[in-house]
Amino acid sequence: MSETILNLDPAQRRHGSNIGQPLTRREGLLKVTGGARYAADHHPDGMLYAALAVSGIARGRVAALDVAAAKAHPGVVEVMTPAHKPALAQDPDAKTNPFMFRLDLLQTDQVRYPNQPIAVVIAETLEAATEGVRLLAPRYDAEPARVGLDGAETFVPAAVGVGNPAEVETGDVEAGLAAAAKRIEATYETPAQYHNPLEPHAIVAVWDGDHLTVDTPSQGLGMARARIAGLFGIEEDNILIRSPFLGGGFGCKGLLAGPQVLGLMAARLVGRPVKLVLRREQMFGPVGHRAPTRQTLRLGTDATGALLALDHHTRTATSTFDDFLEPASDASHTLYASDAIRTSHEALRLDTGTPLFMRAPGEATGSIALESAIDEMAAACGMDPLAFRLRNYAEAEPISGKPFSSKALRACYEQGAARFGWAGRPQNPGGMRDAAGLLTGWGMGTATFPALMFQAQARAVLHRDGTGLVEIGAQDMGQGAWTALAQIAADSLGLELDQVEFRSGSSDLPDAGIAGGSAHTATAGMAVHNAGGDVIAKLAALATGDERSPLFGAGNAGVIARGGRLYRRDDETRSEAFTDILARAELAAVEGRGSSAADPVAQDNYAMHAHGAVFAEVKVDPELGQVRVTRLVGAFAAGRIVNPRMVRSQYFGGMIWGVSFALHEHAVMDRRTGRPMNANLAEYHVPVNADIPSLEAILVEEHDPHVNALGIKGVGEIAITGTAGAIANAVWHATGRRVRQFPMAIEDVLGI
Ligand code: MOS
Repeated sequence: MSETILNLDPAQRRHGSNIGQPLTRREGLLKVTGGARYAADHHPDGMLYAALAVSGIARGRVAALDVAAAKAHPGVVEVMTPAHKPALAQDPDAKTNPFMFRLDLLQTDQVRYPNQPIAVVIAETLEAATEGVRLLAPRYDAEPARVGLDGAETFVPAAVGVGNPAEVETGDVEAGLAAAAKRIEATYETPAQYHNPLEPHAIVAVWDGDHLTVDTPSQGLGMARARIAGLFGIEEDNILIRSPFLGGGFGCKGLLAGPQVLGLMAARLVGRPVKLVLRREQMFGPVGHRAPTRQTLRLGTDATGALLALDHHTRTATSTFDDFLEPASDASHTLYASDAIRTSHEALRLDTGTPLFMRAPGEATGSIALESAIDEMAAACGMDPLAFRLRNYAEAEPISGKPFSSKALRACYEQGAARFGWAGRPQNPGGMRDAAGLLTGWGMGTATFPALMFQAQARAVLHRDGTGLVEIGAQDMGQGAWTALAQIAADSLGLELDQVEFRSGSSDLPDAGIAGGSAHTATAGMAVHNAGGDVIAKLAALATGDERSPLFGAGNAGVIARGGRLYRRDDETRSEAFTDILARAELAAVEGRGSSAADPVAQDNYAMHAHGAVFAEVKVDPELGQVRVTRLVGAFAAGRIVNPRMVRSQYFGGMIWGVSFALHEHAVMDRRTGRPMNANLAEYHVPVNADIPSLEAILVEEHDPHVNALGIKGVGEIAITGTAGAIANAVWHATGRRVRQFPMAIEDVLGI
């Protein structure tokens, strides 16, 4: 276990319910003072440095590597290549479940994408390892690269996302379109984006026989441990992964990535601890990305502006050797009511690394096209975009017909619009200029994200001195998990936050599941809640079954835990301190276990989504075509809010990514070589502070009793989904020009 001391400052002390308090990050002090140890901060004795050599071509084979030259370098200890590497117990190209992706672990000399690992140099210093990589001077037999959404034959994939059908139809879309009074058809393109968390993938691996200690960032420690056990043929119990903090994940650290395994293999090969950290440009290949899409939307309405048909078709790309299909059209399953909805996908195989989950996979790409198309449809109907959405938003999930929290969505529209001042919006585009002569536009978008639940476990202990301990193997990747989960933990035991030790961040603790799909607070939180509840139930049994207790005869159901005491629910004058109950029972501690999973009955009967609406103001220079987002107001309903400060921060992060999607982020492929041309943070643009002048996030109150007992939905991804479309719609409102290519470039805004 890492010795991580969380912030127990008295300012953190709250009385009563901890859930709902806007606490600051408990590990914040550690992070800002450099006390938080990230994976690459570890330096075990005798550690060597590994550096990846990656392919300079997109397709072909490595014809020669000058291993001798690299080994002749005085600091180089070993060079790992397809011809010289430790054996694995499992084929890295095997795929036995939908969450298993094929890894490049030097199995052959084939190159399947740019920046694919082709060798690993292990040396006494980072400098020597880096120089050793240069000395390998690879030569290639290159083949032409398949690049871009017209670069190969298309096919209909068996599934998109994780097992979703590629094609879904309800009603008769063609008949609906034929009967429509107004129709639009438009095609939108979204680019490839690459995960660029501040912290690249890093690993420090120490083998001791078949025992392994690993420091590496992971959004899901249990799955990472199982993957390592499978690949190396060792027992899970022999593997300790420590991952207290991630410098961001966004999906690329959800599953163990190939380069992390190469670090383990390198350490195995040399029999010494090894550190491997990806260089920034190496993030553009072997660790996933958001696939590009081309989406065609066809919509039709009757004379009153009611949608009659919605057709959403996506073309996307995957790699030549694995399948992850961005489920962009699926966004149209959940937002708008229409008698006829069809969603479909086609795909092609390009010489890229396999795409992967990237923050709001499917919803981010799909909603940008859908929300743009809805705006175009509103304009075709001569309707205000908000009025059009209020006319057409779904009261129940359109495809399944299951009840939906549509009241919450309506509240998001109303509260967001009021705060933004939408009522003053002129309907026609090009009608607003500011004092400096900049064209001003207002646009909006609807936000949506499913409220998912995965599986997790937790352990809770109440000690005789009245303090508690809660254990769960979760990491804090910047989203505030350690604060939110500790708040849930304290409430689950009826204690204050500073009375509960919260132990987390390593794989020897109960499995927290995966911090992904915006489901972590709900999933891990419910496990914690149930573990604490188990302790309290045992404690209550001790008290209510003992005639010496003031709670004698109350029964488990009749007791509540608060402030270190149990109270009779029907008579709060009768209570007893935890410490007294334990002392009388002569127990040192009471231990509880909890787990969580989706409730299949609730899932069958209710549609579970978080909702939101985002309103954007842009200013466009009419001569230069430069777009500035000057104001964003988002209103989101996501069930119970565990920590409003963390949640607002998540919404801001999502909205900023929306700005990035609309205006900045774009991995540009060289059509000749198939290589990303901007594999660095200088030319792969993301917004900076100057790009984000004013953000507001409204936390719309919502009580959804069906999602889980705590009523928690996710907040991590939804705010991307409304924002990018809102900005594109605002650009249209400012200029009268529909830009359907993302990110919106100056030349597209100017129409040149
Ligand atoms: Mo997120 S793409 O579910 O880490």
